[in-house]
Amino acid sequence: MIESDEPSLTRRSRVEFAEGELQWGGRFAVAPDAALLAFGSSLEDDLVLAPFDVRCSRAHVTALTEGGLLSGVAAGELHAALDVVAEEITDGTFVAFARAGAFEDVHGAIDARVRELAPDAGATLHAGRSRNDQVATTLLLYARDRATTGARLALTIARAFEERALGALEDGTLLAATTHWQPAQPVSLAFWLDGAAQAFVRAAARFARVARDAARFCPLGSAALAGSSLPLDRAAAARELGFAEPSRNALDTVGDRDVALDLLHAAARAVVAASRPSEEFVLWTTPAFGYARLGDAAATGSSLMPQKKNPDPFELVRGAAARTLGTYTGALATTSGIGLSYHRDLQETKAQIVHGTEHALAALDAFARAFAHLHFNAETMEARAAEGYTVATDVADAMIAAGSTAREAHAAVGERVLLAERQGRALDDGDVAALGVGDAPLDGAASIRAKKTSGSPNPERVAASIAATQRELDAIAQELA
Ligand code: ARG
Repeated sequence: MIESDEPSLTRRSRVEFAEGELQWGGRFAVAPDAALLAFGSSLEDDLVLAPFDVRCSRAHVTALTEGGLLSGVAAGELHAALDVVAEEITDGTFVAFARAGAFEDVHGAIDARVRELAPDAGATLHAGRSRNDQVATTLLLYARDRATTGARLALTIARAFEERALGALEDGTLLAATTHWQPAQPVSLAFWLDGAAQAFVRAAARFARVARDAARFCPLGSAALAGSSLPLDRAAAARELGFAEPSRNALDTVGDRDVALDLLHAAARAVVAASRPSEEFVLWTTPAFGYARLGDAAATGSSLMPQKKNPDPFELVRGAAARTLGTYTGALATTSGIGLSYHRDLQETKAQIVHGTEHALAALDAFARAFAHLHFNAETMEARAAEGYTVATDVADAMIAAGSTAREAHAAVGERVLLAERQGRALDDGDVAALGVGDAPLDGAASIRAKKTSGSPNPERVAASIAATQRELDAIAQELA
């Protein structure tokens, strides 16, 4: 379709667009192509940012008022209109309003609703403001909020692991830890749970760092890319929004998505952390393993096989890790090579940031809920703890302690394992005697008692790790409070 772009009064019609839907138009002679306008809309992706834009708009009113650009009366009218918008966001009517229009994004929709509610004052709200600095500021407020939620979820999960670790420590439940899924060494369930908690401690700390970074530099007042010749009080706006200070360079700040990317990165990393114990729980709940049972409330059935009970939440968490990671790499790739300031490609990062983050937080919440429905079967775990010659390393260590080299001990114990395997039995006192060591741990309980290093499954070491971890969790929680 070839159309002339020549200015022509007869074609200067925007009948398809309600008054105020477009935030531009004066220099355009023809109406925009509706399909292209729809393609360019990010409304469905950024509606979730609406409450943050309202806060941002209020802070811009402050910047205008403090700069002497807006009367107290006009500011009052704008705040009253923004109060209405905030209520409409909460009760859902704003979403209906926004969807009914041809808005490019949530920022345009809010601006239009404010102009509808307060026509005179509303016409001044966008003075010295661009959607570029609105988008950048709104994303930082969103990142601060969701990073805090993410940190709290990671803390909840880490605490749940550590609480169950304390119980398992008291019960002394043993478990065969694996590498390559092959029986490796006896540990305790408490050791495993404390181990699983650590990645969530790091995830919580990572989210907390993002929340902190999201409260440093406020882009508002950077306008499109070069600041404003209007005397906007940027410092007052930054303060109102809880930032430490206004951002330093307008050209950089309007196109900077670093903190939002860090949020997505932290989210992806947290779900990847959840995907690893999820994998174990999927295996542990199989009849073949029998280490754990998932309560009915967290499991699902098969539409065909009547006997099936599936651990879907843990499988979905594994899948969510892949999805979130995809959004992170997608958003990061979008920012690559686009030059300074704002380029429209950046709009594409929003869908990834928002959907990736929301899904990651939902996955962390689901993981925490499903874990609460997971019941361990201590007897089965314990019965298998010393299966597969898992004490072989302890026997070799006993030889090394008695003077053998590591190579000699490894070879000699390996030979006893081969012999025992052929005879269909476990390593026993006879093997220990044949190896010339007076005494070596031959069962799981003796194995973990014999462990000496910090960070090992020795129950005293595990208790120390749990206590240190809980202190760290308290410190992160305090920072978030
Ligand atoms: N819809 C755009 C976005 O969400 C808003 C920025 C528009 N700025 C511009 N220069 N076209 O990223």
